[in-house]
Amino acid sequence: MPSASQDSPMDAAELLFIHPGHALYPEELELRFRVLREPLGFPRSAVAFPFEAESLHLVARQGGAVVGCVLFHPEDPQGGRLFQMAVTPPLQGRGLGARLVTALEEELRRRGFTRVHLHARAQVVPFYERLGYTPYGEPFTEVNIPHRHMRKTLASSILPGRRSQEA
Ligand SMILES: CC(C)(COP(=O)(O)OP(=O)(O)OC[C@H]1O[C@@H](n2cnc3c(N)ncnc32)[C@H](O)[C@@H]1OP(=O)(O)O)[C@@H](O)C(=O)NCCC(=O)NCCS
Repeated sequence: MPSASQDSPMDAAELLFIHPGHALYPEELELRFRVLREPLGFPRSAVAFPFEAESLHLVARQGGAVVGCVLFHPEDPQGGRLFQMAVTPPLQGRGLGARLVTALEEELRRRGFTRVHLHARAQVVPFYERLGYTPYGEPFTEVNIPHRHMRKTLASSILPGRRSQEA
């Protein structure tokens, strides 16, 4: 797990994987509602996905509050969907979203996943592009707003030459 440091406000956020039974899960759902559903006019009931229990939930906690999250639903042994990416508005644009995606990918590599896809809101396609995701397919509408399919192949976490050094 990435460790906290005091170098910048975003470094001070602690990242942790939780599950729906965790004490922070209701706060994660509340953040997802406030950032991803309420602004579009959807009710609280629209925030939970049918596959919450089998998904990875990575949350950022700062000052005791959940300030960011990103989820991953494994769809097969090699890949799955990144979803519900959210950072609380006062902290957006300060690197926390990128840090969450990077930490999630690190854990996915560790678990042997090589493929990630996601449904990007059209306005945040550049955010995912900076993280190495590529748009594919036709634009589509989801939660009443334009989206693009995006995907990324995760490089192995084994460094080149590591095997021979170990042999
Ligand atoms: C999209 C979101 C998760 C990004 O998190 P964030 O913490 O604000 O983003 P970061 O500060 O980590 O940005 C990382 C990089 O992406 C860029 N970026 C972030 N949002 C962007 C946007 N909307 N358009 C263009 N670039 C963007 C940043 O400028 C930064 O670039 P840099 O590496 O050159 O400095 C966050 O803004 C958010 O929660 N938005 C509302 C909900 C949402 O749209 N979620 C995504 C659903 S698909």
